[in-house]
Amino acid sequence: MKAIKTEETDDMSEDLKIYAPPAELVAQAHVSGMAAYDALCAEAEADHEAFWARQARELLSWKKPFTKVLNEADAPFFKWFEDGLLNASYNCLDRNIERGLGDKTALIFEADGGEVTHTSYAQLLAKTCRMANALKAIGIGKGDRVIIYISMSVEGVAAMQACARIGATHSVVFGGFSAHSLRDRIEDTGAKAVITADCQVRGGKQLPLKAIVDEALTLGGCDSVSKVLVVNRAGAKVSMTEGRDLWLAELMKDQPETCEPEWVEAEHPLFLLYTSGSTGKPKGVQHSTGGYLLHAALTTKWTFDLKADDIFWCTADIGWVTGHTYITYGPLALGGTEIVFEGVPTYPDAGRFWKMIQDHKVTIFYTAPTAIRSLIKAAEAKDEVHPKSYDLSSLRILGSVGEPINPAAWEWYYQHVGGSRCPIVDTFWQTETGGHMITPLPGATPMVPGSCTLPFPGIAAAIVDETGKDVPNGQGGILVVKKPWPSMIRTIWGDPERYKKSYYPADFQGKYYLAGDGAIRDAKTGYFTITGRIDDVLNVSGHRMGTMEIESALVSCTELVAEAAVVGRPDDTTGEAICAFVVLKRPRPTGEEAKAIAKQLRDHVGKEIGPIAKPKDIRFGDNLPKTRSGKIMRRLLRQVAKGEAITQDISTLENPAILDQLSQVN
Ligand code: PRX
Repeated sequence: MKAIKTEETDDMSEDLKIYAPPAELVAQAHVSGMAAYDALCAEAEADHEAFWARQARELLSWKKPFTKVLNEADAPFFKWFEDGLLNASYNCLDRNIERGLGDKTALIFEADGGEVTHTSYAQLLAKTCRMANALKAIGIGKGDRVIIYISMSVEGVAAMQACARIGATHSVVFGGFSAHSLRDRIEDTGAKAVITADCQVRGGKQLPLKAIVDEALTLGGCDSVSKVLVVNRAGAKVSMTEGRDLWLAELMKDQPETCEPEWVEAEHPLFLLYTSGSTGKPKGVQHSTGGYLLHAALTTKWTFDLKADDIFWCTADIGWVTGHTYITYGPLALGGTEIVFEGVPTYPDAGRFWKMIQDHKVTIFYTAPTAIRSLIKAAEAKDEVHPKSYDLSSLRILGSVGEPINPAAWEWYYQHVGGSRCPIVDTFWQTETGGHMITPLPGATPMVPGSCTLPFPGIAAAIVDETGKDVPNGQGGILVVKKPWPSMIRTIWGDPERYKKSYYPADFQGKYYLAGDGAIRDAKTGYFTITGRIDDVLNVSGHRMGTMEIESALVSCTELVAEAAVVGRPDDTTGEAICAFVVLKRPRPTGEEAKAIAKQLRDHVGKEIGPIAKPKDIRFGDNLPKTRSGKIMRRLLRQVAKGEAITQDISTLENPAILDQLSQVN
């Protein structure tokens, strides 16, 4: 990978706005300057395996050192460090204590209402061990799956660590998913236990969790679950099923505070995390222990330049991969101190993030463009919630994740949050990649707003055409990764064929990992910009959703819906918004009636998938635009959704009049 040189910064491109990393940060960064970045890339290019092996030896503690690095015999089912034994929870907790960090704060938890608790490494280890012993007491062991359906909490992080400690594979389900989605995940994983809480508290409101687990377990297909462990978050009223449901605190009370880690092979599945694809139901992305943990630690170290006295805040939920890698595993593997925030950015007002940065003297802040865009709107409307009303001088690095950050939002984040002194790392990656793939390094890479810049050292990212041939810089194409890397997805749980087809398609002779995104490299700098998904996956507020999933949810409302097509349209705040075109089994409604049915359908989707999947727009037509062969013309629907004039040839359209119907917003 040929990287740009710092000295080229000035003449890189007249039309590109380039921000150099601050000199004082460069001077002390883990990766200091572009020469250091180039050297790491060159090391990886010269010997890919040796590069990763060195990192794995330096960053992780192995019970039994590995002797094999990469096994490609069964490609694309790659194995990394396969004969090594380790434990993720030992790496995140015990070894920090052995290094003298027992009293250091691991987690600063701030509740929705503002109460703050500090948990030291020693306390987090004790809690994790008691929880691990509690899991063992109910018969959970190595290889068993455990569903975690809980909000942001110390218990949530400890539950993940406890599973890792005993070799159980966790699958965290975001608290915003419905009973149906939860049931699907329980069924697919065959989980033996569910860890949940009475409720979650967000924005001053209590939202049920245990009741949703109860409902999920009545929907069928969950016979594998023998126990439900319940955290008492807020004393909400719950019903406890005798013999199945247990209060976690009760079960942990008499458990010892030590628990010998289960030493697992590096390839042992640490977790499954469900994410949307372009077809079918969500895929259970399987991650390994050794390779995943390595990249979690290495990217936290290099991309965030994490140091001993940093206060790191990743605002993601542990229900998403960002919360896994940059809350539960990466920062803890390095002995860092991090914030775990239960609430929402707009409660009690839209200054919450800035106030928390000020109160906790946060030094590294990592959030999503959607959050930034919505806070810009609020800040511009009211000075009290503008970052300028807070002391944000503790910040030294900012990060962005989950969706493209538009240059205007980037500039605002840089100026108003970072005081024009903090680099922004625009990190491109995916659930499947386990950690950062293309990102600036804060003490090295000159930044360009809207570009995720250059691949992380050791990541062979490239842009190719449909035949797998490299495209020249300046020409868009398909984003691929040409070499396996340690934290990559191992398989789709229970569906290895789908893994192969989705990520190592025959189009590229099964040789390249297909990210599912389009990208372009700048003609001059070689910098990457992600141009969006090339499949039917939407990104709404950084949440990934398949259009097919939403269509299935709509047509499952069998009494009303005959047919549905879902597309995305650009949205100023959420990046993309969901727009659904629906044909009903009754005459096309208009006016108030259309509004009422649209609401009913939104609620139905909320029940089937979760509130995040509710379409913003629902439009009704007597039919959908189709070609003569019956294919829905999605490109046309995307134009209709955007309110654009139709430029496409519609001569093959059966009934052009329906376009007028579908243009009407309810
Ligand atoms: O389309 C890309 C977008 O989010 C997708 C991955 O979503 P998910 O698996 O939910 O993981 C999100 C958190 C890592 C990608 O295929 N995406 C993610 N980060 C960026 C991005 N698009 C542009 N720029 C980014 N920095």
